[in-house]
Amino acid sequence: MNFIDLVRSRYSCRSFTSVPVEEDNLLKIMEAVRIAPSAVNYQPWHFIIVREPEVKALIVEAYPREWFRTAPLMIVACGDHTKSWKRTDGKDFLDIDLSIAIEHLVLQATELGLGTCWVCNFNAGVLSRNLNLPDHIEPIAVIPIGYPADSGDITRYESKRKSLNDFVHWEKFSSK
Ligand SMILES: Cc1cc2nc3c(=O)[nH]c(=O)nc-3n(C[C@H](O)[C@H](O)[C@H](O)COP(=O)(O)O)c2cc1C
Repeated sequence: MNFIDLVRSRYSCRSFTSVPVEEDNLLKIMEAVRIAPSAVNYQPWHFIIVREPEVKALIVEAYPREWFRTAPLMIVACGDHTKSWKRTDGKDFLDIDLSIAIEHLVLQATELGLGTCWVCNFNAGVLSRNLNLPDHIEPIAVIPIGYPADSGDITRYESKRKSLNDFVHWEKFSSK
């Protein structure tokens, strides 16, 4: 699959079959995370791979949705605030580093025919407590992964995205 076709075939999958994700596919997904770039190459991340139903239930407690429960695999992407690069003005690049690594994960999963969805709207306190995260480790996203039980909405990029004219500026910012 070429890059633009891969990017276009990704969508937020919210319906999964119960077919488990194969170990070698999981390793390919994690390799895509491993080679992601990060500010100063600090790699301030931890990824928790969850397949056991009891642990998945602990995650669902933080994001109680029926569709979410159906994912055979969940990956919890966490950032370490003691390891991320801070610019001299104090800006912390943790979220940016994690976002790049997570999107590597998502695109590699897509290439393998797997469905994914970024999930950030969880109760962070409940999730941290249930997974024993120390205070300096922040859960950034949970990515449910599995073989899709739906086919997505193929018109989404035409109907649900802004047009280039809405956000592209040439040379200097111009009010749209
Ligand atoms: C940072 C981020 C957080 C998101 N959090 C959630 C979430 O908590 N629950 C959910 O169902 N979708 C979540 N989404 C998915 C978005 O709703 C989805 O990407 C957007 O509507 C575009 O649809 P598409 O992914 O199918 O192209 C999130 C996406 C991003 C990038």
